[in-house]
Amino acid sequence: MRVQGASYRTIRPLDFGTVEIIDQTLLPHAFERIVLRDAEAAANAIADMQVRGAPLIGVTAAYGLAMALMRDASNEALDYDIEILAATRPTAVNLRWALARMRAALLPLAVNARAEAAWALASELAEEDVSVCEAIGAHGLELIREIAARKGGAPVNILTHCNAGWLATVDWGTATAPIYKAHDAGVRVDIYVDETRPRNQGASLTAWELGHHGVPHAIVVDNVGGHLMQHGMIDLVIVGTDRTTARGDVCNKIGTYLKALAAYDNDVPFFVAAPSSSIDFSIEDGLSEIEIEQRDKREVTHLTGRTESGRIETICITPEGSHALNYAFDVTPARLVTGLITERGIVEASAQALAAAFPERVIT
Ligand code: MRU
Repeated sequence: MRVQGASYRTIRPLDFGTVEIIDQTLLPHAFERIVLRDAEAAANAIADMQVRGAPLIGVTAAYGLAMALMRDASNEALDYDIEILAATRPTAVNLRWALARMRAALLPLAVNARAEAAWALASELAEEDVSVCEAIGAHGLELIREIAARKGGAPVNILTHCNAGWLATVDWGTATAPIYKAHDAGVRVDIYVDETRPRNQGASLTAWELGHHGVPHAIVVDNVGGHLMQHGMIDLVIVGTDRTTARGDVCNKIGTYLKALAAYDNDVPFFVAAPSSSIDFSIEDGLSEIEIEQRDKREVTHLTGRTESGRIETICITPEGSHALNYAFDVTPARLVTGLITERGIVEASAQALAAAFPERVIT
């Protein structure tokens, strides 16, 4: 997508063995790119959230594994490096999905052919992510067009949570792909961007990317969604997913569940943009079978921002000594999900519909 008129992707291979990423911890105040040169740097970039978002961490881990194999590509090293990279973040399944695909393709190869093959495969996964997101965009666009037609061309008001935008993928985003497609096609959209405490991925990342692409948007505090829906101000909710189970339970950024409840109560369609790389066909029950990442309580107790003089500063906003909890994700049961926007079309959030759409992924 575009930043100041130029096209960017979130991750870009340079020479064999190095990739460039956007350091997302600095956004929206600074747009800086950094180079990752080894597997440790890739693992740290994921753990420290310089790259984040389910699809992007999968692709970054794939490149990280390729870098590791340039040092040692033996079976032992392959499994060890996969373990290290997979441990960086526990919830998004894309990480494990990408590493499992790499392992399956690399293990049968001769040890000295693995690093090069891994690099090519990582690039393939990156390209695949772009086309999957673009397809999600095309299917979601039809949804937005239908609502726009019903509204006689008035703007379609869409609420989104966290950042499931191009910054969370290689390009396009998942939840934002239909939005960008609609905007580019001249279908009017107004986006309500949840700030998404505690890390504020909505306020700092989604707003930043929508702004650079020229998409009209307003940042709203996390708690306002229910009020907006009660007053008919939201036509459609589209969120992303870190892991969707075989029966359609959706794990996504903390707070997604509350938006789904409010949408259900107000008859607002609640759609989840779900690339198949985020669907975990090995589990059914999202509530009991997904590990929910718990992060440092400092993300809750402190805020970082730009002062009026332009300095970036971190301040404490809570009483000294107060305990804080920081659950990073929650699970929305399938019954609250109107539909999953996948690369193969819009699919009902149910075991039967998901199995019919992705028969090759079903585990028997
Ligand atoms: O903790 P983050 O910023 O990695 O969480 C991101 C989300 O929850 C996104 O909604 C999800 O990964 C889908 S990204 C296309």
